[in-house]
Amino acid sequence: HIIRREDYRPPDWMVPEIGLDFDLGPAKTRVTARLTVSRNGGHGRPLVLEGETLTPLAVRVDGQAINDWRIDDGRLVIDLSGDDHVIETEVELSPERNTQLMGLYASGGLLCTQCEAEGFRRITFFPDRPDVLSRYSVRMTADKSAYPVLLANGDNVANGDAGEGRHWAEWNDPFLKPSYLFALVAGDLKANRDSFTTMSGRTVELGIWVREADVPKTAYAMAALKTSMKWDEDVYGREYDLGVFNIVAVDDFNFGAMENKGLNVFNSRYILADADTATDVDYDNVQGVVAHEYFHNWSGNRVTCRDWFQLSLKEGFTVFRDQSFSADQGSAAVQRIEDVRALRGSQFPEDGGPLAHPIRPDSYMEIGNFYTATIYNKGAEIIRMIHTLLGAEKFRAGSDLYFERHDGQAVTCDDFVAAMQDASGVDLSVFKRWYAQAGTPKLMAAIAHDADTKQATLTLTQLVPPTPGQPVKQPMTLPIRMALFDRATGESGGEQLVVLDTDTTTLTFDGFAQPPVLSINRDFSAPVVLETNRTEADLAFLAAEDDDPFARYEAMQQLMLNTLVAAISTGVADHAAVIKGVGETLSDGALDPAFIGEAVVLPSDAFIGDQMLVVDPDAIATAREALRLALANAHLAKWQEIYAANGGRSFEYSPAAKGARRIRNVALGYIMAADADAGAKLAFTQFGAADNMTDRLAALGTLANSQAELRVAALDIFYRRYRDNALVLDKWFTTQAVSTRADTVEAVIELAGHPDFTLSNPNRFRALVGAFGMNQRSFHAADGRGYAFFADQIIALDPVNAQTAAKMVPSLGRWRRFDAERQALMRAALERILATPGLSKDVFEQVSKSLA
Ligand code: ARG
Ligand code: ZN
Repeated sequence: HIIRREDYRPPDWMVPEIGLDFDLGPAKTRVTARLTVSRNGGHGRPLVLEGETLTPLAVRVDGQAINDWRIDDGRLVIDLSGDDHVIETEVELSPERNTQLMGLYASGGLLCTQCEAEGFRRITFFPDRPDVLSRYSVRMTADKSAYPVLLANGDNVANGDAGEGRHWAEWNDPFLKPSYLFALVAGDLKANRDSFTTMSGRTVELGIWVREADVPKTAYAMAALKTSMKWDEDVYGREYDLGVFNIVAVDDFNFGAMENKGLNVFNSRYILADADTATDVDYDNVQGVVAHEYFHNWSGNRVTCRDWFQLSLKEGFTVFRDQSFSADQGSAAVQRIEDVRALRGSQFPEDGGPLAHPIRPDSYMEIGNFYTATIYNKGAEIIRMIHTLLGAEKFRAGSDLYFERHDGQAVTCDDFVAAMQDASGVDLSVFKRWYAQAGTPKLMAAIAHDADTKQATLTLTQLVPPTPGQPVKQPMTLPIRMALFDRATGESGGEQLVVLDTDTTTLTFDGFAQPPVLSINRDFSAPVVLETNRTEADLAFLAAEDDDPFARYEAMQQLMLNTLVAAISTGVADHAAVIKGVGETLSDGALDPAFIGEAVVLPSDAFIGDQMLVVDPDAIATAREALRLALANAHLAKWQEIYAANGGRSFEYSPAAKGARRIRNVALGYIMAADADAGAKLAFTQFGAADNMTDRLAALGTLANSQAELRVAALDIFYRRYRDNALVLDKWFTTQAVSTRADTVEAVIELAGHPDFTLSNPNRFRALVGAFGMNQRSFHAADGRGYAFFADQIIALDPVNAQTAAKMVPSLGRWRRFDAERQALMRAALERILATPGLSKDVFEQVSKSLA
């Protein structure tokens, strides 16, 4: 069954108010719902309430039990005359048997909910769509000792004793909201409490609720929350609107976190952090996700989506907001590098494969499959381009108008663009193609020079590739930041913004006696694949001189890619230019160590593969290792110097300390490559002596890739130290799953039989199976054992947790990118999944589209 965007119709019935009564227990929970419904328009259609896995135990209309209801494909259908009624239903749930983790479920002794996108219909019968906005009042009753804390959206208005060791709590949320933002949590939780005073002087009580033992690990998340609240006031003028803001961390969670009104629920991996258990990347992720969910209070909750085709309305905008926030907290350059790396690592392959879709899709079978890098990360790039085209001030005027115009409404991407356009006076009609057309545009930039006229000519040409269902494309609006450098003086005439919205254009620049060096798509101003006629000398110049840090990073990456691609296709490796460029970067005292750490890292196997017509994992691995070795040897003394200079300090979480750890651990990897024995000893010493997880895990990862005997010892020590800490144990699984060793497939198959591996925890599944699916060398092992194992795991997980299983499919879906033998093996794995009886629609959609 396919849902189409063009079929949108306003709801037949509205539900201005809903009262929910939960009699909670892990084995049995009774839910009584009281809906005030009112007919929307003059139609005669019945009331249809969505339901999934629900059986009505009682149905009452205006207080009278009725029997003439019917169930149609899970939905409760009631014929009603008149326009206004009160509908009551009762259902019974079993949270502990809900392994899908959608709706009400049990996790580590807690009872909690996840409703986005369509989980509310697994709790009670309801018109479960985002354009039905209701006022919620909730009453929950539960055992007092097992569930001393009872939380829901909004304000806690009453509490009491229910006798027989039970108690109750009532919560009212004064804001209208769609059902996907409903949440409740019951459990034995302790809070890290704090408060925030808003810009208008109101006090907000903040609580981060976790297991008692985890309270000390919530300090960073709390600081991030307060910084986010202040930032949203300063940068967007957005103030928090309730007296309470609660966050709960749960261990079993299908995604990162959820922005339920006043009660965010988080995957514990994005809340808990301390030096002993969290890496610097984990700290950054905690900060970014806390900010993301908080920012949703305006971009998502106060103004929400009309239908799920508009998902990027809230997600793209909110990712842009959290990226901007993170850029303001540390190195903006490193943040941009990481954002682009994530886009290229997960979104570009999506755009170039069978599951390509525009940021506003036209159809879907299962909306859970559309929480993608395209909706989130490409969506954020599209908002960023609007910001670039309008400038910061007009963009802010546009967002002010958007929030003011649509507060309390469920709206569309068109409404967002209209607000931006109306407030700025900038015509965005051509730009809107970004919402409709899938595929990553290719931008060709050719620079030419005429010595007689002293003119440089830049020709820009774009090509938007065909994608499934979209064979022919129109040109996109590409905001391109560029500069031209005089190669003798190193000076540029400054940056300018060129907006290309036709197939091709030519620009001329006067006053260049020598051919200038082209710096283009600075700060990655448009999400395109760039092709230029720049020489190796041009790239080397930019890698050393460009004043835009992203462009500088990019020039070095391009040099590395050119070297690698040439080595793969000709079999001859010339590493000289990269060795020279890396050497200069390492010795540039003006550069931030955190930036250097990113600039001297080779492109990933996967990204190298994306440059090739047919991905050859073995040739890529060989070429990359050779370049690594060359860089390691050529600069060994420098790596050792960096290693020594950046160590020996006790842990501190600051941008400078983080940068020092980054560059030092990059150096460790190169030292290991140059001298396996000495490197292994150094790594093992670091592993034992580290006072933080970043250094410990970096050392473990280096050893896990090696042939060193100390590898087994280190893995074993790590396991014994952290076997009771699920989040750290996930790292132990991942480290082995992403290993570059030749025996990784066997190791991973064996780990899937480890007593600590389980299908019931999504983090653990992703830590082993998900990570393995990203390991280009081993997943694509020529004998196909990686594919077969992966398919077995998807088949095993599907009946337990269909959403998480479906998320794995794209690793196999990329089959067209590989050689004929691998294609056949990957297709066979997909076909075997498709032939599994009782397959979920989640996995069915992903697999059938991948094979089409
Ligand atoms: N809205 C949540 C966030 O972006 C994610 C919800 C994911 N839901 C889903 N069905 N995949 O923070
Ligand atoms: Zn989000």
